[in-house]
Amino acid sequence: MNNLALQALSGKNRSGRPPLWLMRQAGRYMHEYQAIRKRHDLLTLFRTPELITEVTKLPIDAFGFDAAIVFSDILLISEALGFTLRFEEAVGPIIDPPLSPEADFTQLVGRDIVGSLQYVYEAIRQLKRTLTVPLIGFAGAPFTLATYLIEGGSSRLMRKTKRWFFQEPESFTRLLDILAMATIEHLNAQIDAGVDAIQIFDSWANVLPAPQFQAFAANFMDKVMKGLKPCPIILFCRGSSLYAHELAAIKPQGISLDWQADLPKIRSSLGKDICLQGNLDPDILLTSPSVVRKEALRIMEQMRDDPAFIFNLGHGILPETPRANVEALIACVRDF
Ligand code: CP3
Repeated sequence: MNNLALQALSGKNRSGRPPLWLMRQAGRYMHEYQAIRKRHDLLTLFRTPELITEVTKLPIDAFGFDAAIVFSDILLISEALGFTLRFEEAVGPIIDPPLSPEADFTQLVGRDIVGSLQYVYEAIRQLKRTLTVPLIGFAGAPFTLATYLIEGGSSRLMRKTKRWFFQEPESFTRLLDILAMATIEHLNAQIDAGVDAIQIFDSWANVLPAPQFQAFAANFMDKVMKGLKPCPIILFCRGSSLYAHELAAIKPQGISLDWQADLPKIRSSLGKDICLQGNLDPDILLTSPSVVRKEALRIMEQMRDDPAFIFNLGHGILPETPRANVEALIACVRDF
């Protein structure tokens, strides 16, 4: 087992180079993935343990990243909660019909979350039998999941969600409570199945003003964390450079930083114990190998010999990323 990743998560990586993995490392930038996608639609991929296992291993076999991430999606739990989910080419995820404040969302309580998502846990068990690197499981945070349920898909402005929580914070809080319970069940089942670490994504928490960030994002990531069996946890949100202190106060093993963050500044203000993960701008991977090397080296120099640093992107890898740039990044981190 390559334990560089787990060593960095506990602040004990003395090897002189950080572990490396990418956010959304299995995906459309890989021709191997595109070939599998030609044969199966996305929901079939997400729901079939053998295909989950195959896709999860693609980037490990091709690039040798230091950890694997279960090929899944933060929105599959919406099906377990009784919503209808589909993925549309060039649009993204759609939840139809979406959830409105008038709906009786007590109907979301008492669903068999773990029973519905068995295919995820079966894939984790399969992967653990053969993987040689740690395996990361994940879920969306309650707030980000709520935005998809309420907006009916990806939305930049989050107008319906914002109207709901500004006008009716109590009912919005009740909704987040229900989603937190479901998320805890899903993550504990992943831990039982054998994942080595958990990442919680609050991708849209950047739309929240400070008081609402605390009330709806931070407090609910905290609630989810407190419900979990022992396992290293990494928290991510867009806006993490703004809210790094609020995230660190929840006391996860690690926080994943967006590309705006100044890593040395955050390291000195948070202290040396917490693992920091980040934060190359994914757009840099659209340039050229020499630019990728220059920008990656800048981060490596900034975090040189930091025993609690993991190299990652500041957000998900883009589908149009040239493979040569991913290869240049890996060589740069490996040879540092
Ligand atoms: O990193 C990995 O290899 C694991 C896989 C992973 C996926 N989704 C697979 C996926 C992870 C960690 C996620 C998390 C996820 N999903 C998040 C949180 C992380 C983030 O990016 O902020 C969010 C917000 C989602 C919701 C989601 N799923 C969207 C908005 C989309 C469409 C994105 C797009 O680029 O079109 C998806 C689909 C999705 N999930 C893909 C993958 C690889 C695209 C697959 C395809 O079209 O073939």
